[in-house]
Amino acid sequence: MSSASATTATCTSSLSVLGRDVRVPLVTGGEVTYAALDYAASAPALQKVWDDVAAYAPYYGSVHRGAGYLSQLSTDLFEQSRATVAEFLGCREDDQVVFTRATTDSLNLLASVLPEGTRVFVFETEHHASLLPWRGRATTFLDAPRSPRQAVTVLEEALRAAPEGPKLVCVTGASNVTGEIWPVRELAAVAHRFGARIVLDAAQLAPHHPVDIAALDVDWVAFSGHKLYAPFGAGVLAGRADWLREAEPYLAGGGASRKVVRGAEGNGAVEVEWHTNAARHEAGSPNVIGAYAIASACRALTEAGFDALLRRERELIGRLCAGLAEVPEVKVLSLFGEDADRVGVLSFVVEGWNSSHFAAALSAEYGIGVRDGLFCAHPLLRTLLGAEEQEPGECGAPEAAPGEKSLNAVRVSFGAGTPDEHIERFVRAVKELVRDGARWSYRTEDGRCVPDRGADSAAGQG
Ligand SMILES: Cc1ncc(COP(=O)(O)O)c(C=O)c1O
Repeated sequence: MSSASATTATCTSSLSVLGRDVRVPLVTGGEVTYAALDYAASAPALQKVWDDVAAYAPYYGSVHRGAGYLSQLSTDLFEQSRATVAEFLGCREDDQVVFTRATTDSLNLLASVLPEGTRVFVFETEHHASLLPWRGRATTFLDAPRSPRQAVTVLEEALRAAPEGPKLVCVTGASNVTGEIWPVRELAAVAHRFGARIVLDAAQLAPHHPVDIAALDVDWVAFSGHKLYAPFGAGVLAGRADWLREAEPYLAGGGASRKVVRGAEGNGAVEVEWHTNAARHEAGSPNVIGAYAIASACRALTEAGFDALLRRERELIGRLCAGLAEVPEVKVLSLFGEDADRVGVLSFVVEGWNSSHFAAALSAEYGIGVRDGLFCAHPLLRTLLGAEEQEPGECGAPEAAPGEKSLNAVRVSFGAGTPDEHIERFVRAVKELVRDGARWSYRTEDGRCVPDRGADSAAGQG
């Protein structure tokens, strides 16, 4: 970030975020404040999280392994953070909260503890983190439903036809592509009716909505700190203790083991007694700062109240949708239709535009950060776009001719601390780009569109 200055926002709201006054250069000259509209990938840190971490930093010490004062303090903080997360998620008394690296790690951990013969049921619409960890297991892939009701019916039919044995349903709470909210409670009811367990991928839901594990009656919840305004490398898997307790540890090592002795055979083998609590799956030195940051974000979100956050977000979604609806060339991607409830995540294609080119122009000419591509949800994108090909076209060449199918999409996403101006600038930029074309020329570099620094004038969008 050569000419960008990175200072922190001074706003005192409990949900204010860092980076609101960061300025970035425009390829056309001058600079603007950065409009971070890629929360679905990684949200900015809450100021409160940053302050809490900074206040703790001098007291940082090892966890579960030191006799010193700061080690004791850090251990307490780590365990208190676990309790805070349990409260935030409305965990049942005997649920475990395991700190992981992120949602991907949480779901891979769960995959590693499934009892022998477990069949997994997963919609093809899932993020790859929910789709891929079950490889090597018996898996039933469910077709993309076209309404929340249909999602429930599709799952019900699949479970009814399933053979006996342990079953796990994996479902996302809010899509990272369409932002649409899934009928989690209803899916959980169906799963349990057929003796299946259910894990909720709350990576996109938890930053926007309350997630109550007991009220939703899901067996596990997974989410990532960096999407919940706490970007310090930690995530969570919370839920039923039995499968976690009965399985081999996710990682073998110190912290997970209670007692280790040389085997009686004397052949170099060792015998291990593993912990039965969350530590069983947290081998190695725990990420206390990551866990503390997540707990801080949970506290800040609870304190501010999700009602206020939701109200604000719905207002911004309404403005965004109304603005995009005025551009006939823009097609918003949706599984469940226009009226579906969604979080602040929306993807779209622009007729005649290469999505990478469009996103590059938003960044270089307007200082707006969005994401383009297939969003780690390739099967879903194929369904939504009706396109088989995935290779993006050359930059500058429209990916799809007018009336043809597009191959990639642009995603805009936001949340706590997003000012009106970011959404307004975004809608204005979309309108101007569609109407006037890009003001700069772009070239392809490592498969991405980037401004052509050698160019000094407009080249049109095509
Ligand atoms: C719905 C969903 N699930 C899982 C993940 C994976 O999260 P992480 O990359 O933090 O492991 C993402 C990331 O974008 C996501 O959107």
